[in-house]
Amino acid sequence: MTAQIAIVTGHSSGLGRCIAQMLLERGWVVVGVSRHPIRDELFASHHHALHNITGSVANETTVAAAFEMADTLGGATLVVNCAGQGAFGEIGSYSIADIMTALEGNLVGLIAFSDRAIVHLRERGGSIVNVMSTASKKYRTAESVYTAAKWGAKAYTRTLRDAIKAKKLNIRVYEIYPCGMNTNFWASAIRAGTDGKNFPEPKSIARVVISAVLSNDTAYPQELTFERA
Ligand SMILES: NC(=O)c1ccc[n+]([C@@H]2O[C@H](COP(=O)([O-])OP(=O)(O)OC[C@H]3O[C@@H](n4cnc5c(N)ncnc54)[C@H](OP(=O)(O)O)[C@@H]3O)[C@@H](O)[C@H]2O)c1
Repeated sequence: MTAQIAIVTGHSSGLGRCIAQMLLERGWVVVGVSRHPIRDELFASHHHALHNITGSVANETTVAAAFEMADTLGGATLVVNCAGQGAFGEIGSYSIADIMTALEGNLVGLIAFSDRAIVHLRERGGSIVNVMSTASKKYRTAESVYTAAKWGAKAYTRTLRDAIKAKKLNIRVYEIYPCGMNTNFWASAIRAGTDGKNFPEPKSIARVVISAVLSNDTAYPQELTFERA
């Protein structure tokens, strides 16, 4: 049987890495997209099935390279948008560079990969999984710009689903809203207010996402929202 192919952005760390690993363990081929490639033991044990595309998700050449690689491999049926970086701070503290950091992966890249996925999936069908945050549903005053990026991603993703429905395309759209997770997100964020060490591990969230997305049931959850137990 031919392996199924997924594009996973933000595959080099945290939740995206867990999702990529779970797909690889289930026999999928993964086109992973991050600014840094995976070259550790995960790559060593799956080097035949893991293809690193290196670059920002908000860069046109990265988008093209990822979908060209998927085309070369036979065509993806799953696109997971997980790339994102935190840029936090009280109102009155943001430079343009901070704002661009918050928008780059969380909003611009998510839109770019979702939009290109429509063309890629139009004929064969498939799923788009957009990872956002519980910040997409709240007003966090010390995270105003990140909150704006994640609300924007939610507005885009819901509009995308309506547009897909209007065009009667066979593409499922999943909205994923993780709670705080213990990942590198907090170390790489601008002005993080926590180190995230007390948050749940991303694999518990990845397991639920994978189980929902790989189910062939005729009904599927459009939204998965996570809270700390
Ligand atoms: N951790 C949390 O508490 C939390 C809570 C709710 C939602 N989220 C969201 O969950 C998603 C995954 O976060 P995580 O916790 O797994 O963080 P993480 O461990 O820092 O992983 C983020 C991933 O995104 C990639 N990335 C970031 N900006 C990118 C860009 N411009 N272009 C390409 N790749 C980029 C990073 O790789 P490179 O650095 O190699 O590019 C990395 O692979 C993010 O969208 C985040 O906003 C996180």
